[in-house]
Amino acid sequence: MTRSSVRGVFVTGTGTEVGKTVVAAVLARTLAAAGRTVAVFKPAVSGLDDLGEGVEPDHALLRRAAGSTQSDPEIAPYRYGPPVSPHLGAELAGERIDPERILGAAREASERGDFLVCEGVGGLMVPLTLGYLVRDFARELGLPTVIASAPGLGTINHTLLTVEAARAVGLDARMVVLTPWPDDPSAVERSNREAIERLGAIRTATVPRLDLSAIESWPPLGLDA
Ligand SMILES: Nc1ncnc2c1ncn2[C@@H]1O[C@H](COP(=O)(O)OP(=O)(O)O)[C@@H](O)[C@H]1O
Ligand SMILES: [Mg+2]
Repeated sequence: MTRSSVRGVFVTGTGTEVGKTVVAAVLARTLAAAGRTVAVFKPAVSGLDDLGEGVEPDHALLRRAAGSTQSDPEIAPYRYGPPVSPHLGAELAGERIDPERILGAAREASERGDFLVCEGVGGLMVPLTLGYLVRDFARELGLPTVIASAPGLGTINHTLLTVEAARAVGLDARMVVLTPWPDDPSAVERSNREAIERLGAIRTATVPRLDLSAIESWPPLGLDA
């Protein structure tokens, strides 16, 4: 297992738009509500040009959930407009993502709190550069990993692939969080959860559909059972 001097959690997911930011925000909020000073981080954000009306960028939702006063660049050192993989976002902006800069920024962010909640970008195999994947960054950070995934059809395969990709490089795949988990889950959704637990040998938790504007209404989500 990788080990880290940083205390925190790394939130990845089975892909993009699967609930990573929501899960990271709920973890951050839970800790902040318990009196912890929480710092947040995300190595790169893209798609800032494409946000719908009233939709917050990831770094803003994470900051609000954590009650943090970090600036945008302190939370997310690389921020791009086009909705593309970060390695391409950087290329379109005429730059390259520097792995050392990201790691340094993550460590600095972690000093702003006693717990760091770090959200990945897309899934584990997303390139930050063509020689450095999100998974490489997660490994260097060495935090326990939480996997956000959808409850419905297709999730068993995507989730187990992600668990395997994490464990293949020694990441501590700690928990899968199914989101948004329906109030009245179907037989398929319940079966998916059970299959992921059994086949992935991993704990699962759920997050119901939340009102993202009302953080005080969110139910707590802890890292431990
Ligand atoms: N539990 C939830 N409650 C409300 N909305 C959710 C929930 N889970 C996911 N979503 C919605 O699904 C979409 C994708 O979630 P997000 O956390 O932004 O995904 P990712 O960070 O993986 O791209 C967003 O519109 C988000 O608001
Ligand atoms: Mg996100």
